[in-house]
Amino acid sequence: MTLEEKLGQLQQFDGEASGNYRPEHRDLVRKGLLGSTLNVRGAQRTNELQRIAVEESRLKIPVLFGFDVIHGYRTIFPVPLGEASSWDPAVAERSASIAAAEARAAGVHWTFAPMVDIARDARWGRIVEGAGEDPYLGSIMARARVRGFQGRDYSAPDKVLACAKHWVAYGAAEGGRDYNTTDMSETTLREIYFPPFKAAVDEGVGTFMSAFNDLNGVPASANPFTLTKVLRGEWKFDGFVVSDYTAVQELMQHGVAANEEEAAQLALNAGVDMEMVSRLYNKHGAELLRTGQVSQTTIDEAVRRILRIKFRLGLFERPYADESRERAVVFSAANVAAARDTASRSMVLLKNDGNVLPISKNIKSIAVIGPLADDQVDMLGPWNGDGNAADVVTLLAGIKAKAPPSTKIIRYAKGCDIEGDSTQGFDEAVVAARASDVVVVAVGESAAMSGEASSRSSLDLPGRQLDLVKALQATGKPVVVVLMNGRPLAISWMAQNSAAILETWFAGNQAGNAIADVLFGDVNPGGKLPVTFPRSVGQEPLYYNHMNTGRPPDPNSKWTSKYLDIPWTPLFPFGYGLSYTQFRLSNLQVSATRIRPDGRVTVSVEVENVGVRGGDEVVQLYIRDVAASVTRPVRELKGFQRVTLPPGTKRRLEFNLGPEQLGFYNREMRFVVEPGEFKVMVGNSSADPHELVASFEVQK
Ligand code: NOJ
Repeated sequence: MTLEEKLGQLQQFDGEASGNYRPEHRDLVRKGLLGSTLNVRGAQRTNELQRIAVEESRLKIPVLFGFDVIHGYRTIFPVPLGEASSWDPAVAERSASIAAAEARAAGVHWTFAPMVDIARDARWGRIVEGAGEDPYLGSIMARARVRGFQGRDYSAPDKVLACAKHWVAYGAAEGGRDYNTTDMSETTLREIYFPPFKAAVDEGVGTFMSAFNDLNGVPASANPFTLTKVLRGEWKFDGFVVSDYTAVQELMQHGVAANEEEAAQLALNAGVDMEMVSRLYNKHGAELLRTGQVSQTTIDEAVRRILRIKFRLGLFERPYADESRERAVVFSAANVAAARDTASRSMVLLKNDGNVLPISKNIKSIAVIGPLADDQVDMLGPWNGDGNAADVVTLLAGIKAKAPPSTKIIRYAKGCDIEGDSTQGFDEAVVAARASDVVVVAVGESAAMSGEASSRSSLDLPGRQLDLVKALQATGKPVVVVLMNGRPLAISWMAQNSAAILETWFAGNQAGNAIADVLFGDVNPGGKLPVTFPRSVGQEPLYYNHMNTGRPPDPNSKWTSKYLDIPWTPLFPFGYGLSYTQFRLSNLQVSATRIRPDGRVTVSVEVENVGVRGGDEVVQLYIRDVAASVTRPVRELKGFQRVTLPPGTKRRLEFNLGPEQLGFYNREMRFVVEPGEFKVMVGNSSADPHELVASFEVQK
């Protein structure tokens, strides 16, 4: 390969929003100067450009087509935060696998997913793209999604290459403001932010994306510690790293590169192999090599990593997409059915006073109210691939479809917009509510309020939506709040005053059907929150696995760690979610009272469905290292199982704890299990008042 051809493999350019390639791409590909594109999709269009690469370029190296297939390609599943609420890795694996099959059929080889950033601050709009605040749940979901996208062999016609992003600590942006600086200890990096990425590597993820943020003074896209020492050295990752969009060029804005040449030099030498959109490697590579600022070995190694992945994708053997397959695979009835099932398993019942839910199917009349009640566009959530709003079943349509229109009266009124000050629609909504037996009100955010560059300083319901809920409530009718949103919201008033609240996130194509399945009890909700819901934005960042402090909160003592104006506790804790049935946990057993530091214990517990309906419970195991050489979190999730139990039945569940779960990074950054007492807590949330507690000791 000539140097030009090598640098060409390191370059990725953006297609048009429509999914087409740009006219200039043809020439670049012909000359071997463009190794990859993003956003170009569709079997026919990708084949067109591929034909130029394979038939007209000197070396015939195929183009790698990347695209953000985040929660579905054309069949849109719930947003990742919603899917994580299922606490069901099998469901996450299936949706990734369907997304992969559709994308590959449409000529896409590579998805920029899973996004595995831990997010502890609900202001950050990109919290919607990940699995929430916890490294353990995040790691399980990361593995499931990588498995779903890539399978065992991503050269298969229904698999794509995955990308763990954004490496790293992007979710810790100060103040929750997107692209902002992050600054944290190496302990926090290693214990909280690294694990889902490590899990992705263990699952064989083929690529990483380097993040936009500055990390402890060194931008993540020019950071030799994270990109080379940890990723390549410690974890033995042998795939390639792509920069985020223009992140190489942005090293100048960060103020670590004085000019373009230096930006390219820093990123390449740190370990960023492919440059997304900016073209500094191409522009300055030859000069950097000539002056010895970048070595031939570094360039060759980057090229080798990219070509290795192209080989693994089978692109040299099968460069083209099969145009006849695309139509059969994309948006098939089976895929749509899976989207409905995934969506209903992702919903979290936050409140259900007096068993307002499920609604009887024979109920005479329902008022369906709210700016999101008949909204197609927002149900797709941010990053909706090739999704089409016209495919969306709205809540209103889903409720109507549950029973023949003759058997009930369904009154719809929008009430107000998501944002804005107008209350003009309130009267119509109140009239509809008064005339009906139950009110279902869909409120929340627009899809554009979360995702990239969509941070908020308020976590309140936008616009006049809360006033709408209050007006409906004043009718005295039972009000069921259906939340649609991309982040935890501060909903104290509703938590106190509304009869029922169902968190549905942005549930995708089948949102309305899936919500109706839950509202009418065909599906008993079993999801749990993967993030803490605060009482007020002022509590952020708020997460369950915090340190204890020297003055833990005490309601009877002023001089302890809390607020004057609100309780220190969350509104809804991590791991929380109700069901239409009740479960009881009992008989917690730990297999040993003492173990050696390299030993293991089995924790087991019985879970019983003591209600009258079948349902799902997510049994959660937390530990606490009571006294160690460094402070440890008050609790850490180390195991969970979602189980389905018919009424009146019980099951014994087992969890295994060993050094991976009990260890932590000590002051010398060594991963150790220290002697002393460990508490084990098993419950149905991170703050279950009925949780069972036991302990064991690690001996010297
Ligand atoms: C920028 C985003 O940060 C990243 O997540 C995405 O994959 C790229 N743009 C490509 O669209």
